[in-house]
Amino acid sequence: MSKILVTGGTGFIGSHTVVELYNAGYEVIIIDDLSNSNPKILDQIEAIIGVKPEFVELDLCDEAKINEFADKHKDISGVIHFAAFKAVGESVQQPLKYYRNNFYSLINLINAFNSSLKLVFSSSCTVYGQPDVLPVTEEAPTKKAESPYGNTKQIAEEILQETCAVTPSLKVTSLRYFNPVGAHHTSLIGELPIGVPQNLVPFITQSAIGKRGPITVYGNDYNTPDGSAIRDYIHVVDLAKAHVAAIKRLESDKAESNYEVFNLGTGKGSTVLEVIDAFEKSTGEKLNYTIGPRRAGDIEQVWGDVTKSTEVLGWKAELGLEEMMSSAWKWEKYLKENPF
Ligand code: WQD
Repeated sequence: MSKILVTGGTGFIGSHTVVELYNAGYEVIIIDDLSNSNPKILDQIEAIIGVKPEFVELDLCDEAKINEFADKHKDISGVIHFAAFKAVGESVQQPLKYYRNNFYSLINLINAFNSSLKLVFSSSCTVYGQPDVLPVTEEAPTKKAESPYGNTKQIAEEILQETCAVTPSLKVTSLRYFNPVGAHHTSLIGELPIGVPQNLVPFITQSAIGKRGPITVYGNDYNTPDGSAIRDYIHVVDLAKAHVAAIKRLESDKAESNYEVFNLGTGKGSTVLEVIDAFEKSTGEKLNYTIGPRRAGDIEQVWGDVTKSTEVLGWKAELGLEEMMSSAWKWEKYLKENPF
């Protein structure tokens, strides 16, 4: 059974990916520094798959520690690298914290495995900025990032592409996520935002459960059907399954190039008001919201062209907006009864 290292495996997307890797017959070992996640998630994963994944608390910025780990774990056949800081707003306030953490961890990881590695890298549609053409394909040009967080994703992709170009033993797949939302159908794992959620869907569920006040819709004067901004929301379980497909492709050695990029979205855009409407329809809960000014740094509209992921990865998102909303709501209700 192939053993996969998942860095950041106690996080939102990481934990769902650990579950799907097990479902696909892989063994998993998790590295996480627990700076932005809760170790209780390991028990929750065990409750879903019946096995407690091997876990090592480790900061990937500690070069000696990750080298020691790699020396001890020669049986790792692939790595999925989620571990990174990802709060857009915080990155603007603390750029050096973001550049140091997100680059040191990536470079240390590759060096620890002597650049002989099958690596799936967690990237983001944020690299496109506001695309000129929609839906946006992987061939679209990247644009100057709106935040240090987004810049770390762009530069990390360049680091990987340039290293792969001169390192045949390094095989990398960068996955550009659109907007991951929702939770596992068991409601045992889901998103655990720290403090006031910056992202739309966790704010919606916390507002609905009474933890927050009304939602502010950041702008309804965009050039979109209802004036609110458009994003391509994707169920976190669909996203997790795409990581299994990416690992399988790397193991198959089918790729002509040792560096590939894939969009992970549904190929469908939804406005903020449509998300609010879908939440109300799928849960029966009435939401309070007000229209506020646009949020600095937001783009107007983006959704992905996912043809390449479907034709090359053999993956396609299956879950729609209503299942994203109902699973997120069930998770919020679970948290109320079972606070972490
Ligand atoms: C979605 C839409 C907001 C909150 C960011 C990162 C991206 C990824 C996902 C890490 C926007 C609107 C939001 C609210 C609102 N992060 N909104 N009221 O900004 O598209 O993407 O998170 O990987 O890299 O850039 O996601 O959920 O913050 O916003 O109206 O209270 O909802 O303006 O149009 P975003 P989001």
